[in-house]
Amino acid sequence: MSELLRVEKLCVRFPARDGATVHAVENVSLSIPRGGALGLVGESGSGKSTTARAIAGLQLPSEGRVLLSGEPFGPGSDRATRQRVQMVFQDPQGSLDPRRPIGWSVEEPLVLQGAGSPLARRARALAALDACGLDPRLAVRYPHELSGGQRQRVAIARALVVEPELVILDEPTSALDVSVRAQVVNLLCELRRRFGLAYLFVSHDLAVVRRVCEDVAVMYLGRVVERAPRAELFGAPRHPYTQALLSAVPELGREFAADPLGGDPASPLAPPSGCAFHPRCSRRAEVLGNRCALELPHLVERAAGAVACHLAEPPVTRP
Ligand SMILES: Nc1ncnc2c1ncn2[C@@H]1O[C@H](COP(=O)(O)OP(=O)(O)O)[C@@H](O)[C@H]1O
Ligand SMILES: [Mg+2]
Repeated sequence: MSELLRVEKLCVRFPARDGATVHAVENVSLSIPRGGALGLVGESGSGKSTTARAIAGLQLPSEGRVLLSGEPFGPGSDRATRQRVQMVFQDPQGSLDPRRPIGWSVEEPLVLQGAGSPLARRARALAALDACGLDPRLAVRYPHELSGGQRQRVAIARALVVEPELVILDEPTSALDVSVRAQVVNLLCELRRRFGLAYLFVSHDLAVVRRVCEDVAVMYLGRVVERAPRAELFGAPRHPYTQALLSAVPELGREFAADPLGGDPASPLAPPSGCAFHPRCSRRAEVLGNRCALELPHLVERAAGAVACHLAEPPVTRP
């Protein structure tokens, strides 16, 4: 499978008060094959949305780069290139104009693109609504006349109407009622198959990620600590943080708690030394000496995935 997206050593830092720096994203490298789906999970504040925005070209990276089909991609890319990547947010209100009928909101990206005749644009907008499971007759309705699930379908139609190759979904089902959530997840799976889309899927809901994505990356305090194919990640998680996240989900479908592990989730303003997870890690004592507190573990490629943990390294053999 050919590679569509490559993210190399992405860093996003924000200036904070008193000259401090928020290390929102540190050294994140990822890739997604054409038509593939990568899930991005982690607690609130771990840098998922900032990573998503930087990949979508909505946020200039402090360091590192984003490549689309091998070409640099970002806020400076031309319109046609930028339309190859679309983003869907948790709250569709943000991308829908409350004063315009939804058909207009779905057609607008085509207008901005200057694509085709008004008639052809209208037809494409209606086809996008239809593909997203909405009766095209709803096109004349306003956002407030629709349910939350319908509004999210409109936001998805608006993203798809320009025929993107990569769709970045940031918690796309988190604001929806549980009963509607499964329908939207099914729709996203169906759309991916039908249009050969690739997804970067940010979610708190591990069951949803498991359903949608064949690869998963786990973030902790701005860094990817584990990356693996779905079966390996859910079947045999290797990072103590991933293990804790999974054990904190007693029933599938339940979101993990904001703080599933107890203890201080720490701040990206002052990440702990060494492995940022070490103050909360139940297994750090298994590592000889004070290595977890002193030395940053690198993400090391292993069979089926990569993990950043000193515990995952083969034990040092002494002569
Ligand atoms: N524009 C910004 N300015 C300053 N700090 C930010 C900004 N955006 C995000 N952050 C900080 O970056 C960290 C990561 O945030 P975010 O990417 O939203 O995490 P997540 O989506 O995983 O919850 C948080 O500590 C957040 O407060
Ligand atoms: Mg977020």
